[in-house]
Order: sequence, then structure tokens, then C-alpha cells
Amino acid sequence: MAESRSLSRVEALRLGPPDWKHACHALLYAPCPGRLFGKIPLRFAVLMQMRFDGRLGFPGGFVDPRDASLEEGLNRELHEELGPGATSLLVAERDYLSSHASERPQRVVAHFYAQRLSLEEFQTIEDRATQAKDHGLEVMGLVRVPLYTLRDGVGGLPAFLSNTFIGSAREQLVHALDTLQLVPGEQLQKAVTMAQKKP
Ligand code: IMP
Repeated sequence: MAESRSLSRVEALRLGPPDWKHACHALLYAPCPGRLFGKIPLRFAVLMQMRFDGRLGFPGGFVDPRDASLEEGLNRELHEELGPGATSLLVAERDYLSSHASERPQRVVAHFYAQRLSLEEFQTIEDRATQAKDHGLEVMGLVRVPLYTLRDGVGGLPAFLSNTFIGSAREQLVHALDTLQLVPGEQLQKAVTMAQKKP
């Protein structure tokens, strides 16, 4: 995994072209009252995607120098990757969560946003995702993140966190689950520890 460091939005915006490229990604989530096997609370639906390179990441991408703002670039990428179900989606500066800079394989600042949707809005995006321009090309499919841990202590979130993630996506996910309180702190910490132990 590429090394990345966390930095503030102000610091991040000082890293400009031609040395640095900027990318923006978003975590979309919705309260989800269902229970797995009628027992295990799902709590929230959290959206990630399987990318063309076999790694997990969030929808988004590089901001074009022609984009008027980071958020304009992000919304353009979200519509391309998520398709017609995301037409009314508008991620704004108030949804900003974090920035990470990495130097390899190229100098990139990755900005991260999160937006809460209704479950209906979330499902509309999922239902129509196969009509997206990038479906089957840059995006192989959408996935929901399992937020629970099964009785064996590995299944669920720990096993999910053992996958391979692109760039800072894994750090972004863990940070967002914590900050947005989508997973109780102690349970999240255990899942992270278990994922590190898993061969
Ligand atoms: P691309 O999607 O492969 O074009 O990636 C554009 C840049 O964003 C690369 O530097 C990736 O490492 C980075 N990137 C892609 N997806 C994510 C993500 O979900 N979180 C953080 N960085 C990402």
C-alpha cells in the first residue's frame, strides 16, 4: 500500500500543479434498519466499489484543472461512476472530511467527503449503477461494507478490512466509520486489530 500522510484542507490546497494532482472521493451512507439472518443489526449501508484494478475504493477520481472547484470535479466523477441514480446527488464543501498526500507512485492529494442519504436514495443509486458510463470499465461493481463482526471475530468488518484498498481508501474508511459513529469505537478498534492479524 502507498504511504500517505494526513494534512489539513488548507495545507492540502497549497500543494498545487504541476507537482501535485488532486483527487476527490466520497463515502455515501444511509441508515439501514435491517438485520442479517433476522438477528445482526446492519445499522448503516456504506457504499464502496470494486475497481478495475481489483482494489476497493470510493467513487470519485482526479479533479480536472478545468473544474471550477474540488467539489465540481468530485460531482462530475460521481455521476460518471454511479450513473443516473446519482443525478440529484450534490456533494458540497460542508461534506468534506479529510485530505491525505502521497508521493508514490505519483504526487497526489486525496480529498475525502461523506454524505448521508436516505435509504431510498441510496438504493436508487445501487439499482441504476449498471447504467453508469464507467460500469464494467473503471467500476466493476458497487459493494456495501459489512459493519458488524460475526461470532468468529473475523467475519464481517475485520475480513472486509483485510482486502486490498487503493491509495488511502482504507484509512479514509476507518476514519469515517469512527468520526460519523457508524461503528461503535471499541468494536471498530477490535476489527482493525483483527484485520492486521489476519494472514
Ligand atoms: P484512479 O481512480 O486510479 O484514476 O485514481 C486517481 C488517484 O486517486 C490515484 O492516486 C489513486 O491512488 C487515488 N484513489 C483512487 N481511489 C481512491 C479512494 O477511494 N481513496 C483515496 N484515493 C483514491
